[in-house]
Amino acid sequence: MTNRAAGVWGIGSYVPEKILSNFDLEKMVDTSDEWITTRTGIQERRLAAPEQATSDLAYYAADKALADAGVKAEELDLIIVATSSPDHLFPATAALLQERLGAKKAGGFDLSVACSGYIYALAVAAQFVATGLHEKVLVVGAETLSRIVNFEDRGTAILFGDGAGAMVIGPVEAGYGLMGHHLGLDGSGAELLSLPAGGSREPLSEEVLKNKRQYVDMNGKEVYKFAVNIMGDATLKVLETTGLTPEDIDLYVPHQANYRIIEASAKRFNFPMEKVLINIHKYGNVSTATIPLAIDEAYQEGRIKDGDNLLLVAFGGGLSWAASLLRWGGRPEK
Ligand code: UT7
Repeated sequence: MTNRAAGVWGIGSYVPEKILSNFDLEKMVDTSDEWITTRTGIQERRLAAPEQATSDLAYYAADKALADAGVKAEELDLIIVATSSPDHLFPATAALLQERLGAKKAGGFDLSVACSGYIYALAVAAQFVATGLHEKVLVVGAETLSRIVNFEDRGTAILFGDGAGAMVIGPVEAGYGLMGHHLGLDGSGAELLSLPAGGSREPLSEEVLKNKRQYVDMNGKEVYKFAVNIMGDATLKVLETTGLTPEDIDLYVPHQANYRIIEASAKRFNFPMEKVLINIHKYGNVSTATIPLAIDEAYQEGRIKDGDNLLLVAFGGGLSWAASLLRWGGRPEK
């Protein structure tokens, strides 16, 4: 057994072309651009085309991440797809992605921890690389939340969008990569944010469809209160485990659920807003995809340099939370 550093070899993301603006939503539910913008920071979100499902969005993001890493799909050892809106309950979205990529020797699975899923998946990938069991792990966060949102419910319809982000995780130089994680769950809050039907508890039936139980159900106010506290607590845990201070953080990468939640958690550590990655205005909440999407966008803009400390933090259904410290760079020459 070795204990190697695991980090990012390559990154990519994809969002569908179709934009659903707040003004479009005004025509669908009793809401306003002004309300959505001031309460959430969201201006528009993307919608998958009717023929696209989660594995399709995952494929486009993965393809870009592989190209960026200089890795061929056949070289992948493992594929982890974090998602809250898989193509099917089974087979795993990872299997559909594996086939489309031609990742012939890869194992894989889906990981379900709602919006905290991407950070959980990074932590899992890092363990496989650290032990020496795997060399190249593809970690994808992909969602078509528009398929599980009730567009007649203004409490949720305004929040969510579709998209995907991916990273290739492999061994990196010591002192770089995923330096520490904090993962948490509190199932006592399971009912605050859930997709009630479609699983074994409430299989699909006419009754389910009539009561719209196949759509996301959320107590927004309670989730909001939980989020503001847990984003800060999880950040603090990772700072403690890595021995870093808020001043050491170059980029703060929060789950994009609500601008006010992001601002409140950044304030707790005096992170200046210029150091906080924000794209919620363009994409809304894309669950597992928000973090890789935000990092990829910053990377493409040249905002991330080798040695930068990125603090990733998310919360979501479960209730769940996760945070991670990622020191960028240290990947082998392509
Ligand atoms: O990945 C995790 C996913 N979930 C979250 O992150 C959700 C966290 N929660 C939130 O982001 C916020 O709670 C919401 C954005 C969902 C709601 O914002 P809020 O400031 O907590 O609003 P509220 O629920 O307290 O509602 C305030 C008012 C209410 O009207 P009255 O009772 O004051 O007359 C609502 O009926 O705003 C009304 N309202 C709306 N009005 C226009 C609620 N939703 C809307 C809407 N458009 N879409």
